Amino acid sequence: MVHLHKQQNFCYVLLLFVALAIVYARKSDEVSFQQNYRVVWGNHHVFFLQHGREVQLSIDKTSGAGFRSKLEYASGFFHMRIKIPNKDSRGVVTAFYLTSTVYEGMGEKHDEIDFEFLGNNGEPHMLQTNIFANDEGGREQRHSLWFDPTIDFHTYGLLWNQHQIVFYVDEIPIRVFKNNSEVGVSFPWQEMHVTGSIWNGEPWASNGKRIDWNQAPFTAHFESFNIQGCQTQNHNKFVCYSPYLWWNDHKHWQLNPHQQKAYQYVRKKHLVYDYCSDRGQLHKECQIN
Ligand SMILES: *[C@@H]1O[C@H](CO)[C@@H](O)[C@H](O)[C@H]1NC(C)=O
Repeated sequence: MVHLHKQQNFCYVLLLFVALAIVYARKSDEVSFQQNYRVVWGNHHVFFLQHGREVQLSIDKTSGAGFRSKLEYASGFFHMRIKIPNKDSRGVVTAFYLTSTVYEGMGEKHDEIDFEFLGNNGEPHMLQTNIFANDEGGREQRHSLWFDPTIDFHTYGLLWNQHQIVFYVDEIPIRVFKNNSEVGVSFPWQEMHVTGSIWNGEPWASNGKRIDWNQAPFTAHFESFNIQGCQTQNHNKFVCYSPYLWWNDHKHWQLNPHQQKAYQYVRKKHLVYDYCSDRGQLHKECQIN
């Protein structure tokens, strides 16, 4: 009974989030790709649909493709609507992430916040997330999804402020990374581009199996190109920590009770791999939570 009750609650929360997501998606879909993004590789593998409000990236043996934001950001609530390849795409990685620019030879350490689909090989579909701060990554988590991401667009979101990074799938928080810099855990701080791509991830992403090129091209679709972030172009990035930016206000310093509930549910039912269980001793944040 208790279990049923919990499930019902979760459904209500889910419905509310979906309703909000629809209202929100309407507004954001009006921005075209060209306004905020540019293609950075694989030009011939990029197709524009719906007057630039939808972009298709494809990969075959010759190339994948990728795009990124024209500007860099130092805080925000970033999102992308994505539909991944609907074939046996093992080894084909579809990614949406924030990444700082590494200038070769400058000895810089990069920051990155990732969503990665490792290519599907039947149900359930796996979504991997990772965080790099000062070049230190190895923070993979994998979630099974409660829907088929090849059939419809779903929204993948990243909240990034001074207090936390939250990964959202359709408004459901699936992962939280707190700013624990006070106890010596590095936290992404560099300006980052918003990026989307499809690329050859074998053998890493395919468990040593080969991509089945007979099925190529593999295509991923991206939508929703408005960016709710603090750009750093003409000013110091500390402006991006202003509490007047809505994603920085105290409501976004931690999950609210509804989100917390949904988050705990997802952790329990859908978290299939967590680096903390695997090599937690290498990462201080694993010993805190
Ligand atoms: C992390 O939190 C500390 C305060 O605990 C703050 O000074 C610092 O700016 C935060 N880091 C980032 C990158 O937001």
